[in-house]
Amino acid sequence: MKFLIINGPNLNLLGKREPEIYGSDSLAEIESWVKDSLENNDHQIEWFQSNHEGEIIDIIHKAINHVDGIVINPGAYTHYSYAIRDAISSAAIPTIEVHLSDINNRENFRQISVIKDVCVRQILGLRKTGYLKALKLLINLNKTD
Ligand code: DQA
Repeated sequence: MKFLIINGPNLNLLGKREPEIYGSDSLAEIESWVKDSLENNDHQIEWFQSNHEGEIIDIIHKAINHVDGIVINPGAYTHYSYAIRDAISSAAIPTIEVHLSDINNRENFRQISVIKDVCVRQILGLRKTGYLKALKLLINLNKTD
């Protein structure tokens, strides 16, 4: 199966960026940890990071008919990007929203996710384990289809 993992703005700074909130792993370290932790490495998993809303929308469009599931951490776009929300609902690919931190226990503006309702699941506050959990859920979802 083929999966796409999208990380939005400022997530390229993971490891250096507010480690007390987001952990001390870089995005590359999270990627290799997730790869090593998956029991089955036959799946094709593409990791993509961008600081630009349009690039995130473009990669969701390109995924149509090509990937079996998307894991997305849209960073701050989570809280206000109706354009990313529309891209996810238009693509109609099972998508799981992941956040390293528990956005429901942070500032008021972070407690709103405009993409939540178009995702099959929201995983909060599990740091890197959230990505692994999301992938496993998508793999199982596709198995039962
Ligand atoms: C984040 C939470 C967002 O509020 C924030 O803007 C991020 C990271 C998380 O993974 O916890 O960039 O998505």
